[in-house]
Amino acid sequence: MCQREAVEPAVEFRRLGSTELSRVVEIDRRERIDVLYDQHGTQLVARHGKWSASAWDPDGHGEHSVEDQVLRLEHYVDTGGIALGAFASGRLVGIGVVVPHVRPRIAQLAFLHVSAPLRAAGIGSRLSEQLEQIARTAGDSDMVVSATPSENTVRFYLGCGFQPMAEPLAELFELEPEDVHMRKVL
Ligand SMILES: CC(C)(COP(=O)(O)OP(=O)(O)OC[C@H]1O[C@@H](n2cnc3c(N)ncnc32)[C@H](O)[C@@H]1OP(=O)(O)O)[C@@H](O)C(=O)NCCC(=O)NCCS
Repeated sequence: MCQREAVEPAVEFRRLGSTELSRVVEIDRRERIDVLYDQHGTQLVARHGKWSASAWDPDGHGEHSVEDQVLRLEHYVDTGGIALGAFASGRLVGIGVVVPHVRPRIAQLAFLHVSAPLRAAGIGSRLSEQLEQIARTAGDSDMVVSATPSENTVRFYLGCGFQPMAEPLAELFELEPEDVHMRKVL
């Protein structure tokens, strides 16, 4: 489990229905990134620079468009994934998806985003813990994640007990070769 301070009580966590996945548009994705990691087996090598993640594109069809994210979320749920949302004052401020059994006894943490103004408040940890519990209950013993290689995100997953994998799952590596591929024993 992630050992972090409790999230403020005003945040409510619950399962998202398939008609609610389009609410991902409510998440503020913006982030400034000063360090990206390159993965060499289990070693991570830091690369310094100035990058940024922009807000979701509300109208386009590209990788960071709302349309593409909703299609991704629907695909995960259609293939057995379970989506959880974190709500503050009625607004979706965090979303996470676990897909159990992507391989025998292996679950995938397939999606995890917390709105920029509410990061570092424990919401991601709480979502991750609940998704891990869902995977355990489904009978999985390991969880994998294909993580954005940014400093904050990798630090988050390391803090949650994930470790870089020497041999990522081929199907996930093929989709995101620049990600940091990590694994945790549940
Ligand atoms: C990664 C992410 C889901 C973590 O959620 P979160 O609610 O910010 O995480 P928590 O508050 O539970 O945990 C905080 C820890 O995460 C790390 N972290 C992640 N983002 C951070 C940020 N913006 N500022 C400070 N710490 C951050 C730190 O290690 C921190 O631990 P520390 O306080 O002991 O240093 C969230 O930051 C996010 O949505 N990032 C952008 C999207 C992304 O990369 N998603 C993952 C895709 S694989």
